[in-house]
Order: sequence, then C-alpha cells, then structure tokens
Amino acid sequence: MPELQEEALLPLSTNRSALRAPANRAPELAVIVPTFNERTNIGELLRRLCAVLEGVAFEIVVVDDDSPDGTAELVRELAAQDPRLRCLVRIGRRGLASACIEGMLSSSAPYLAVIDADLQHDERLLLQMLEILRSGQADLVVASRYLEGPEVAGWAEERRLLSRVGTVLARMWPRLRTLHDPLSGFFAITRTAFEATARRLSGLGFKLLLDILLSAPVPLRIKELPYRFSPRQWGASKLDARVAVEFVLLLIDKILGGRIPPRFVLFAAVGGLGVLVHLGTLVILHEYLAVAFLRAHTLATFVAMTCNFAVNNALTYRDRRLRGVAWLRGWLSFLFICSLGALANVGIAAVVFARGESWPVAALAGILVGAVWNYAVTSVFTWGDRSTP
Ligand code: GDD
Ligand code: MN
Repeated sequence: MPELQEEALLPLSTNRSALRAPANRAPELAVIVPTFNERTNIGELLRRLCAVLEGVAFEIVVVDDDSPDGTAELVRELAAQDPRLRCLVRIGRRGLASACIEGMLSSSAPYLAVIDADLQHDERLLLQMLEILRSGQADLVVASRYLEGPEVAGWAEERRLLSRVGTVLARMWPRLRTLHDPLSGFFAITRTAFEATARRLSGLGFKLLLDILLSAPVPLRIKELPYRFSPRQWGASKLDARVAVEFVLLLIDKILGGRIPPRFVLFAAVGGLGVLVHLGTLVILHEYLAVAFLRAHTLATFVAMTCNFAVNNALTYRDRRLRGVAWLRGWLSFLFICSLGALANVGIAAVVFARGESWPVAALAGILVGAVWNYAVTSVFTWGDRSTP
C-alpha cells in the first residue's frame, strides 16, 4: 500500500487543495478513471489523486458504465463540491478501453493519463509522468509492472500466466519488442499523440495502451517507469473470458489493419464452427440413429443454427446479450434471417456456377454473400445494433 498524505484521508470537500482549486486555470493534465462497480474504491482514489496532484492544474474524468452499485451517484456528489471532477456515464455500454477513449476525447488538456479506480496503480507516479511529457522527452509514459522483475503482488497463478502469454503475444510486433509491459493499464500520453491515433483505435477490451501503440501512424517515443501493481483490496476484477476474447479480437483487428470489423470475423468463425456442429449432428442422427438423410440434414441445420445463435449471443454480442423472452425472440429471428441467408447463398452459388466458374469458387461466393447477409441483418434485427457498418 502506498503511504498516504494525511490530507488525502479527508473527504474531498474538506481537502485543502480542493478549496484552493484554481478554478479559472484550464487543466494541463486530465486523469481518466474508468469504473465499473468501484463505489468502495473511487472516493479513496479521488482523495489520493487530489493530494498527489496538489499544485497541478488537473481535471479528473470518471467514465462509468452505469454501475449498478451507484459509483456514478457517489462521483457526482463529490463533483458537486469540486469543479475539477467530472463524471461521464455511458448507458447500455461496456468496455474499459472504449470508456477511456471517450473520457480522453471529452477533455482538452494537453496531457492525458489513464489510471484504474481500484487503487492497484500507484498514483504517485503521475507527477513524474507529467514531468516527462512536459519536458518533451517522450510522447507516452508507461507505468510498467515488468521493468525490474515481476512486480505483481497477490496474483493467482492463472492470472500471472495469462498476463505473461498476452505480453509475449503482444511483443511479437516489431514496434513493441523493446517494451516491457505493453499491456499496462496505467500510462500518460500527450494529446497530440493521442489525437493522431484516436480515429484508428479499435477500442476493444481492456488493452487501450496496446491499441494505441499498434494504431499510432508513426512509432511513439516511449518511456517506461517501474512500479508495483498492488493487490486489489475491495471489489472484484472485471477481467473475464469475454475480456480475453476481446484481446484476441483486438490483435486480429490490428493484423487486418482495421479493414474488416472484428465482430464479423468472430461471427464468421462461429459460422465455421456451426459447420462442424452440423456434420457432428448429421453423423449421430444418420449414421448411429438411422434417421433418413434429408430429415437428419434438416434437423442438423436446425441444431447448428441454434448453436450458432447461442454462441454468437454469448460471445459476438456479449455486450448486448439477450436473455429470457428476448433470447427466444432473438433465436426465432436468427433462424428466420439465416434461412433467407441460406437461400441467398444457394442462389448466388447457382448463378456463379452457371457462369462457368469452378464449383469451389461458386460455393465460396455463395457462402460469403450468405455470411455477410446473416451478419448484417441479424446484427440489426436480432441484436438491435444500429452501429454495424
Ligand atoms: N467504464 C468501465 N467499463 N470501466 C471498467 C470496465 C468496463 O466495462 N471494466 C473494468 N473497468 C474498470 C474497473 O472498474 C477498474 O477501475 C479498471 O477498469 C480495471 O479493471 P479491473 O477489473 O480491476 O482490471 P485488472 O486489475 O484485472 O487489470 C487492470 O490492470 C492491468 C495492469 O495495469 C487493467 O487495467 C489491465 O488492462 C491492466 O493490464
Ligand atoms: Mn484491478
């Protein structure tokens, strides 16, 4: 636990630096704090930030994804007493990286820092980060867990391994090779460098730093500072299987240069899996249970579509997952739309084949058109996502 200045323990309203807030000075540093269910931590973090940044013209932007524990209400109460604090609430959205991007875009400060709300990042590094950016030595300062040996306290073995594997994967990119902790969640960047990158960001998952590093039009000048990643004291980590999937999607998106929506890549991969489910079901029904071929094939189609729907609902549309009655309605619309997709698939394949192309080309053309149709139409009608391109 970092040592606290006495002042940091007082409520925000009685914090002396807060009362001396230079309200008419535009902020030089914006500290972006993403939150999801951090009511138990956020007050303490804000007090620590105010204490450590004494004398700096700063603002704090808490970006909360409508946490059910009332994080945003608490931040707003505190913000009512301190103009340097703002709360940005996103409704019906989830995601650490996209929350940080939106927080960063909401500020005009020349320097931007991102820090977790759960007191695992050592906020005392912020001043040093700011000084390095001010001096112009670097565009980006990363607080690195792995600079002086592993500095991660209290992590379970799996989590340690996951972080290691992720770091090794990320460091396969030439421009990341020299960096010790490209997956750090604690860093500061100049607004100029951020803005040059902002439009290319994928905004997926947890790893905004990695996204920035891989999206920057020219390699950034980076400086790393060592720190110790403290154990979380209150609340729970939000890193789960979905976040791991988003990490893989982020890498795919960067490999494809952002040309194909990663959601489509996942949707198509699930479709590929559906073919295996279809064949497996067919073998069981037809070979082992002696169901007539056409009947077995029809049933297998139905099973595969249902399976695809369930997996897409859990993974591809994890942020708009349907449950209960909505699940049933979604499933029916998915079956209907994909049946039309199958018709389009067969129709296109027939036309291409009739034009003298070879059967694999005709089949692939049909599959591609069917997949794009299924993806585009189900995204809007099944999962109600109006933002799909
Ligand atoms: N707005 C928003 N939306 N915030 C989120 C979300 C979300 O969907 N998910 C998590 N957060 C917030 C948490 O409330 C916390 O403040 C911060 O993001 C980090 O989340 P944790 O769940 O505590 O992540 P972690 O401790 O496992 O990992 C963090 O630290 C690592 C080391 O720096 C992340 O920042 C990792 O990306 C990082 O590698
Ligand atoms: Mn954490």
